[in-house]
Amino acid sequence: MPRDANFLKENNARHMWHPMAHPAEMIANPPKIITHAEGVTLTDVDGHRVIDAVGGLWNVNLGFSCQPIKDAIAAQLSDLPYYSAFRGTTHGPAIELGYALADFFAPDGLVRSFLTSGGGDAVDTALRLARQYHKIRGQRDRIKFLSLKKGYHGTHWGGASVNGNANFRRNYEPLLPGCFHIPCPYTYRNPFGETDPARLAQLCAAALEDEIAFQGADTIAAFIMEPVLGAGGVIPPHDSFMPMVRDICARHGILLIADEVITGFGRSGAWTGSRGVGVQPDMLCFAKAVTNGYFPFGGVMVSAGVAEVFEKDETTFGMIGHGYTYSAHPVGAAAALATLPELVRHDVAANAAARGAQMLPMLAALKDRFDIAGDVRGKGLMMAVEVVSDRATKTPMDKATMGRIFEAAYASGVMLRISGHNIIMSPPLVISPAEAKRIVAGVEAGLAAA
Ligand SMILES: Cc1ncc(COP(=O)(O)O)c(C=O)c1O
Repeated sequence: MPRDANFLKENNARHMWHPMAHPAEMIANPPKIITHAEGVTLTDVDGHRVIDAVGGLWNVNLGFSCQPIKDAIAAQLSDLPYYSAFRGTTHGPAIELGYALADFFAPDGLVRSFLTSGGGDAVDTALRLARQYHKIRGQRDRIKFLSLKKGYHGTHWGGASVNGNANFRRNYEPLLPGCFHIPCPYTYRNPFGETDPARLAQLCAAALEDEIAFQGADTIAAFIMEPVLGAGGVIPPHDSFMPMVRDICARHGILLIADEVITGFGRSGAWTGSRGVGVQPDMLCFAKAVTNGYFPFGGVMVSAGVAEVFEKDETTFGMIGHGYTYSAHPVGAAAALATLPELVRHDVAANAAARGAQMLPMLAALKDRFDIAGDVRGKGLMMAVEVVSDRATKTPMDKATMGRIFEAAYASGVMLRISGHNIIMSPPLVISPAEAKRIVAGVEAGLAAA
């Protein structure tokens, strides 16, 4: 029997440290205790019900009641709860999922998968495989990585090193040498003072060219980017940006890694963010929604060109000296196998596009009513309101006010995510038009209480 509510409240945040939080702050201001979830609604320990505008953590794309995935997990636990995929053994779910992923990502030109336990593992895998790809081809100086300021790629050493946000870097420096960052196509704040998204995309692409020339193209292994930046504050680059990056990388022999840990599986309104802007990356990282968040899982897809280099290698350089105990975990693979057809059956990419198109103008209209709503942006069902204390100077809103916004929205029945001075929304991709309206009403309630 689980412990009662009093025990949970008494011990909340007292014996474990929470990710992405200050331990003292968690003790002073304990996190919400969620005890139950159904559809897109959460219930907390006090019985208060809220619509989950966070979608778990950008991952519960089908909501919390997806029975086929739960059944597949239970059945797999009973048939074969674990077996390794390290050289020499495999199992049915791994083989079937390899086939299903190659099918799902065929339009992206991606043909092979390497499976992991989550997004950070997937990013580190992609970075390592990128270096290895060049070593196999005899270009052993290609060891550097380029990425976008504001980008988020998880908190493993590789991902943290290509990460473009000081909050995730400072306390852990020095990070991996050989990682360099270029300006992000973020129209609200950028070093060029440029507000036109297409022109800004060109300036950032030119900065990438410049950095490549400065570093020497033959020293760079890969460029990694999110098609829509997520944790950095939901920043959708202009549609021309990623195609320009694709072209620049190809011209310089640099691999393009699309980090689609958030954008994969429909969230940006296309099945992959890359596909949405007509780009085929050399590698693609996925995680989160691949199991609808019900099991920790992820992976990297690689293109036919990259796969060929590994598979035709006749030296020892092609041996993949990388992997995790839980790579291709049978329960995760079974969960993913059940998730993929459900995503397609619910046509979540189309609903994400439609609900995003419904919500974004409603959120933008809040700028007319609230001076503190400095910028509103989004693509599909990833959206942000950037909150400022002074619109003219764009001063980021203080933490206490952001806390009040969160609490007021929560009291009104909406779970929002506050990240710095951004309100971030990433609800399940199956939300209805009425639920979308309720989320906007929650943001409104929050801003009104600021
Ligand atoms: C784009 C991106 N890459 C990587 C990660 C890291 O994934 P995980 O937290 O599963 O390690 C995240 C997590 O939010 C992410 O948004």
